[in-house]
Amino acid sequence: MLDQLQEIETQTLRRLESITDSETLAQLFRLVLGDKGTLKMILRSLGQLPADQRPAVGQRANEVRIKLEEAFAAREEVIRAQELDRNLAEGAIDVTLPGRRLPMGRIHPANQALREITAIWAEMGFQVFRSPDVETDDNNFTLLNMPPHHPARDMWSTFFTTQEGVILRTHTSPGQIHAMRAFAPEPIRVILPGMCYRYEQVSVRHEMQFNQVEGLAIGPGIRFTDLKGTMAAFARRFYGQDRQVRFRASHFPFTEPSMEVDVECILCDGGGCPVCKHTGWLEIAGSGMVHPVVLRNGGYDPAKVSGFAFGMGVERSVMLKHGIQDIRVFWGNDLRLLEQF
Ligand code: FA5
Repeated sequence: MLDQLQEIETQTLRRLESITDSETLAQLFRLVLGDKGTLKMILRSLGQLPADQRPAVGQRANEVRIKLEEAFAAREEVIRAQELDRNLAEGAIDVTLPGRRLPMGRIHPANQALREITAIWAEMGFQVFRSPDVETDDNNFTLLNMPPHHPARDMWSTFFTTQEGVILRTHTSPGQIHAMRAFAPEPIRVILPGMCYRYEQVSVRHEMQFNQVEGLAIGPGIRFTDLKGTMAAFARRFYGQDRQVRFRASHFPFTEPSMEVDVECILCDGGGCPVCKHTGWLEIAGSGMVHPVVLRNGGYDPAKVSGFAFGMGVERSVMLKHGIQDIRVFWGNDLRLLEQF
């Protein structure tokens, strides 16, 4: 049995030297020192030896076990180091290669315009007031002087919800009611930016989802001329100091009188082109003096205060400014367009 032990030791040490990977090393370990390994079998059969041989064989077997365990540990370390070197060599990077450019995210042109428009109104003393996208029919229509069955409701093709009386706002004007009820009887000067939803046939100029910026100013003695001056000041700041502005009579149920604001066409400088339909003018906002019925619904006394309101389309403003001919590009996610902003 002593010879057998010597044989195991010599053979195992020799085989260890030629092993270069941890898997083969683990296999050999199991074969010799594992639970059913050759050395373990010998240690287990010690009891069958004659009593006088047991101590010598037992001692020798333990010596071999310790020696082999140390040899395995030493080999494992060498193999680990070799494997690390190999891994490093395989994964080595060429630091002289030019780097790959990471794609940069940008702010969407509609949001850029929203920020620019908000900043201009802020400079002019208007604060931002947030109101919900999901609205009641009352706020969107009735309280804006369009009771149920009023034909003017048809001007705004509406997305209804499964809940009676709850709709997606078709314009930012219902925010006027929220703002008035929050401020009344104090004066107001706010803008209400946000997304609007309309059940529209999508076309080059119509989306079913688009941003508007609503404005509302209420206080004693606010006049139509204040509205005209304010709109002209905004148009010049946003579209350029030299842009001509004109006002056209119009109609909205929640303002009286009402007017549309046009700026001189940016593409043809007023000379006439397909974008302005050869008129030389482009419409930028609907506006007017807040209707007394709406003032009352908001909690104000029309005998004491007056006010103006306006609403402008944000995507349409970007289209005018940059000569974009198709509104659908805003939701098209085409990087060729988005990367230009
Ligand atoms: C309104 O929505 C009124 N609430 C505006 C207003 C507010 C008037 C306060 C008076 C006082 P109108 O439906 O015209 O009005 O829409 C206003 C602007 O939103 C339009 O000039 C246009 O720029 C934009 N707009 C309207 N419909 C769409 C659409 N389908 N897609 C993109 N932009 C649209």
